[in-house]
Amino acid sequence: MSKYFHITTYGCQMNVHESEKIAGILSEMGYCACEEIEDADIAVFNTCCIRENAENHAYGNIGMLKKLKARKKDMIIAVGGCLPQQIGKADVLNKKFPYVDIIFGTHNLGKLKEFILKRQSGKKTVVEIEDGDGVICEDDKPLRTSYPNAWINITYGCNNFCSYCIVPYVRGRERSRRSQDIVAEAKALIEEGYKEITLLGQNVNSYGNGTDDLTFPELLEKIAKLDGKFRLRFMTSHPKDFSEELARVISENRKICRAVHLPVQSGSDEILRKMNRRYTATDYIKKVEILKKYVPDCAITTDLIVGFPTETDKDFGDTLNLVKRAGFSSAFTFVYSRREGTAAAEMEGQIPEEVSKERIMRLVELVNSQTRAQSAEYVGKTVEILCEDFDKKRGMFLGRDEYGRMAYFASEKNLIGKFVNVKINAANGVSLTGDVADISE
Ligand code: SAH
Ligand code: SF4
Ligand code: F3S
Repeated sequence: MSKYFHITTYGCQMNVHESEKIAGILSEMGYCACEEIEDADIAVFNTCCIRENAENHAYGNIGMLKKLKARKKDMIIAVGGCLPQQIGKADVLNKKFPYVDIIFGTHNLGKLKEFILKRQSGKKTVVEIEDGDGVICEDDKPLRTSYPNAWINITYGCNNFCSYCIVPYVRGRERSRRSQDIVAEAKALIEEGYKEITLLGQNVNSYGNGTDDLTFPELLEKIAKLDGKFRLRFMTSHPKDFSEELARVISENRKICRAVHLPVQSGSDEILRKMNRRYTATDYIKKVEILKKYVPDCAITTDLIVGFPTETDKDFGDTLNLVKRAGFSSAFTFVYSRREGTAAAEMEGQIPEEVSKERIMRLVELVNSQTRAQSAEYVGKTVEILCEDFDKKRGMFLGRDEYGRMAYFASEKNLIGKFVNVKINAANGVSLTGDVADISE
């Protein structure tokens, strides 16, 4: 009889890819993936703790399994990822959810098989959290679930300690994989038929950092020069380390998508200083100008936080101004969430929720108006879309252009993994719809 696993993933792309690594371990153990958690013999929650609501979301879902576990006594429930990696949180989880079988962290997910065998051999609850500074796992075999897209880690961890952020505490110090391993992985994926490679790191621009011969732009260029038709993306770029050299490499290599995610967080110098971002609004705009000088059509997206401690109406106004000046094509917007253990958690001047809510509504409205205006310019144009998926509800295929804009289109044939030229006939907010003109590859 087949045994099944189910993974619930929260948080960033890094976590999505780590869930693929967890799936790789479970499938090597003979488990198959299932759609419904009720059918699972092993249910894994790969958690995130970047904001309070990410944590609560996981708590809610784990809580809902209590009844199922009471019925299915042999089911194994495992909780991993960033949430248990926070100091003291593994114990909190263990007390709150006594029916959870395994609690592990971000640094030891490669040992999940060992933890499962331990639990099955009779140990009550397996709680294993490691301090992972320096851990780089090279022997994982991810079960990739996102064809034609594939993610590759290039760095792990973060050294920046932005004052609001929990990531450096739950992911450890920044370390880079060896460039030859990264290039070999990219080459193998392209040969297997993957069409879009995304290089992942909390701050890809600091790749290498003295431990590898290649800098980030050099690594990117080396991968972009590999044979085959594919797209290359990377995330995330920290503005303080974004270089002219990187802008040049993007402009000279057509396989690199002309889309850069460059999180600014705030447009106020005072808030940026308190956030420990190490650039001013003017520095940021200069980076945008350098990028636009080399790659005039580059789409720039960003992350923004409102309601950081002490943020005044004037600070918030500076953020609105910067959003207009930088011309972002879209943005992720967040209400500041106090994270225990970070520097900002101890700052005076925490902002009341209703003030933050009002600000974020205004910010979202501004960002959406820019996104809508840029979408409208697509109507009548033909763009190359990499078909990535089929939307059952709409009955249409979907994919993105190199700038990251989503488009829907109908087709009788399965086009997933194909580059398709689509004539855009309507723009609705963030996404576009159109008709297939021809299929290039
Ligand atoms: N390493 C990336 C981002 C990682 S977290 C970078 O530096 O850009 C993704 C985003 O979550 C951040 O860019 C930030 O906008 C947001 N974020 C991080 N901590 C937060 C917090 N405490 N409250 C609200 N948003 C937060
Ligand atoms: Fe967090 Fe800053 Fe590191 Fe990004 S660069 S992960 S926001 S500490
Ligand atoms: Fe990612 Fe959330 Fe961890 S954003 S690094 S999964 S805290």
